[in-house]
Amino acid sequence: MREIHDESVQLVVTSPPYYNAPFDYPNLFKDYDEFLRLIDDLSRDLYRVLAPGRVACFVTDDMLVKGEKYPVVADITRLILDAGFRYRDRIVWVKPKGYVRISRRSGVVIQHPYPMYYYPDNIQESILIFQKGRFDYSHLQELDPKSLRESKISIDDYHNQEWYLTVWNITNVLPLGGRLEKGIAAFPEEIPKRLIKLFSYFGETVLDPFLGSGTTMKVAQELGRSSWGYEIDLELKKIIKKKLNFNHSSDSRLIFIDGRDARKLRSSFQRKVETKSP
Ligand SMILES: C[S@@+](CC[C@H](N)C(=O)[O-])C[C@H]1O[C@@H](n2cnc3c(N)ncnc32)[C@H](O)[C@@H]1O
Repeated sequence: MREIHDESVQLVVTSPPYYNAPFDYPNLFKDYDEFLRLIDDLSRDLYRVLAPGRVACFVTDDMLVKGEKYPVVADITRLILDAGFRYRDRIVWVKPKGYVRISRRSGVVIQHPYPMYYYPDNIQESILIFQKGRFDYSHLQELDPKSLRESKISIDDYHNQEWYLTVWNITNVLPLGGRLEKGIAAFPEEIPKRLIKLFSYFGETVLDPFLGSGTTMKVAQELGRSSWGYEIDLELKKIIKKKLNFNHSSDSRLIFIDGRDARKLRSSFQRKVETKSP
């Protein structure tokens, strides 16, 4: 992230690759330690580039891989705190009840209605919110009237859509064939939309270090924020450009990690997932 100057980003919104998720990233990481090292390295970069008082949001979840449950939420929290951030909040993102994709484990009790067979189906993820120190609200006096006006949060949305709760009910992006986001584990636009409106001002800069299909940059552009996006999978270049409507404005910068670390992931994962499905 050498391209980004120290303390020049006002908000991070991201969703790291789901650790070796069977449906999206099978065997992306050699092991769990390799995944944690990626987050650990990133946490120091994020601390450097984020402006004082500002916020970094991670959309993530614990992961069930080959019968083992990995405590991703707890481990990411620990690593980000160790990098110097404060723990500000955790929002639970709840998906519709009918949506269970990762595993349908709850049926075990129906087959064996006895204690110790309980494995609930998962319909939530965490939105972890960290902060670099405390925000200095006197900055607001320096903002020009247009930026202040454009940054105003709609109290109707805040109430009617229940942004004020620690539980957000939001429909996920369905992994349907033909969708731009197929095989990417994209989050719905509503998540970056809320986070960008709640934690950044008009004209400021938002960073997504795991850009995927480009959702964060798209929403940032729509809301008048500049953005940085990083992606390792060269196969996503076309998808991101399409999602941004080829409207790659001069104040959004898309960086593909090249050289040794660049990958071609999407189609190889899809082949693996498809050959495993019943
Ligand atoms: C969960 S997806 C992000 C999805 C995104 N939020 C969206 O809405 O489309 C994680 C992304 O991180 C990418 N990735 C994995 N390792 C990376 C790395 N070291 N640097 C940058 N991107 C990486 C994956 O290729 C994947 O596209």
